[in-house]
Amino acid sequence: MNDKVLFFDTTLRDGEQCPGASMNLRQKLEVARQLEKLGVDIIEAGFPVISDGDFEAVSTIARTVKKCRIAGLARCVEKDIRAAAAAVAPAGDRARIHTFLATSPLHREFKLKKSKEEILAMAVEGVKLAKSLVNDVEFSAEDASRTELDYLAQVVEAVIDAGATTVNLPDTVGFTTPAEYTKMIEYMVKFVPNVDKCVLSVHCHNDIGLAVANSLAAVAAGARQVEGTINGIGERAGNAAIEEVSMALSTRPESFGFAKGEKPHNLNTREIVTTSRVVARMSGLSVQRSKAIVGENAFAHSSGIHQHGILAKRETYEVIDPAEVGWGETELPLTKHSGRAAVKARLEKLGHTLSDEELTQVFNRFKKVGDSKKFVYDDDLASLVNDSLDTHNAVWKMIALQFTSGSEAVPTATVTLEKEGKRFTDCAIGNGPVNACFKAIDRITRTKGGELVEYNVRSASAGQDALGEVTVKVQFGTDCSCKPVSGKGAATDVIEASARAYLNAVNRNLKLVEIATKA
Ligand code: KIV
Ligand code: ZN
Repeated sequence: MNDKVLFFDTTLRDGEQCPGASMNLRQKLEVARQLEKLGVDIIEAGFPVISDGDFEAVSTIARTVKKCRIAGLARCVEKDIRAAAAAVAPAGDRARIHTFLATSPLHREFKLKKSKEEILAMAVEGVKLAKSLVNDVEFSAEDASRTELDYLAQVVEAVIDAGATTVNLPDTVGFTTPAEYTKMIEYMVKFVPNVDKCVLSVHCHNDIGLAVANSLAAVAAGARQVEGTINGIGERAGNAAIEEVSMALSTRPESFGFAKGEKPHNLNTREIVTTSRVVARMSGLSVQRSKAIVGENAFAHSSGIHQHGILAKRETYEVIDPAEVGWGETELPLTKHSGRAAVKARLEKLGHTLSDEELTQVFNRFKKVGDSKKFVYDDDLASLVNDSLDTHNAVWKMIALQFTSGSEAVPTATVTLEKEGKRFTDCAIGNGPVNACFKAIDRITRTKGGELVEYNVRSASAGQDALGEVTVKVQFGTDCSCKPVSGKGAATDVIEASARAYLNAVNRNLKLVEIATKA
C-alpha cells in the first residue's frame, strides 16, 4: 500500500458553513490561490445550486486555479448535478462533481423517508448522470459511519459500477471512533469486489474531537483521500484539520503504512502557516493560540528546562522542525518609505495576489497607516488586504470620518460616504463616539434598526501603535434570514476601525437583501 494520500480541501464549502464564516468571491479566490500553492489535490469550491454567489465562486475558481482538481457539491438530484457540472466546467479535465446522499437508517427514515432500495437507485442514477457530464465523479454516502456495513458495501459497489471514481465515507456527525472507522474501511476493502476501481475517501467532523484521529485511522486501513479544512473550520465543531493530518503523516509515515522517509502526500508543507493565516483572515475565524502546527504557541517553549533542551538539541522537545511548516520566515517590517513594489512583493509572500486596482487601494491605505505608525508589520498589511477585499464592490465606501468625544462633551460624528461616485455627508450624536459613527452611517445609508449584537476589538500586530481590528455582528430588521450579519474593519484608530466594520456589515446586508429579492 504505497499510493500517496490525496488531500481534498473543503474550506470553501464545509468550512464556509461554519457559523461566523462568510467570504465574498474575492476572498474565496485568495484562499483558492493559496490552496493551490499549498498543493492540495482537490479544492471543493462550493455548492453551486445553493446561490448565484456560490455558482460564481465555483466557476471563477475553476477558471483561475490551474493545478488542482475543482469540485462542486451536488445533492443526488438532477438540478444540483447539472448546476455543479456547469460551474466546474471551466476546469476542463480537472472538473469533479461531488454528489452525496445519506445512507444511514436515521437519515433514510426521518430525513429522506425512503427505503434502502430507493436510496440505492437514487445514488446510482445521480452518479450516472454526473458521469455523463464529467469524467471525475465522487459519491459521498452521507452519515456513512452510522450506516449498516453490509448495506454501505452494496451502495459503494453500485456507485463504482455507475462510474464513481472516488467514494467518500463521511463521519457526518463526528460520532465514530478510530477503531470503528478502521473496521469500516477494512470491510469495504474486503467485501466490495470492485473497490480497486475507486479511491476510498474519508471526511470527518470533530464533534467529539476525533476528526484527525479518525482520518488517520482510515488512511492506515487503506483510504487514499482525506477531506478536511485548513485550521479545522467547518460545521459545528469543524472538520479534520488538513495541517494536522498532513503533518501527522509526514512526521510518522511508518505508523500509517508508508515507509520511513517516504513522502506520503503531495503538500508543500512550508506553505502551511501562510495558508492558515490567509484562511483565518479571509474567513474572520482566528486560530486559537495553542492549536497544533499553526497556533502562535505551537512551537513556543516557555519553561526553562524546555528552552535549555531545545538549545542543546531541537529534537529534545520538538517533533517537527517549525521551518518545515513555514514558521520563522518573518522579515523586516515595512515603513512609510517602502514603495509599491516592496509592498506588492511582501503581499505575495503573505499569499496575496492582487489586481493593480486592488494593490493601489491597499497601497494608499498602507501609506496612510505608515504616516501614523513607524513600522507596518506583516499582520498589519494582511489586515489591510482583508479590509479592502471585503469592501471590494461594496455599495457604500468610507471617504472620511471625524468625531469628538470626552468626559464632558456630547459624542458627535460626521461621516462622508460614497455611492456610485456621489458623496454624502451627515452627522449624528450618540452615547459614545462609536455609537455616533454608527448612527451617522445609518442616516446616510438609510439603515433602519441596525442593532449591534456583538463587538470585538483586537490588535493586528504588536505595539501601542498596532492596527486595531474590529469585528461586529449586527441584527438588521431587513435581513431575510434573520441572522446577525458580521462586518470587519481595520485602522490605527479603533473608532475608525469600528465605523469601517459597521459599514462592512451594512454593505453585506444590502447584498443579502438583494440576493433574497432576486430569489
Ligand atoms: O459531512 C458530510 O457528510 C458532508 C458531505 C456533503 C460530504 O459534508
Ligand atoms: Zn461535512
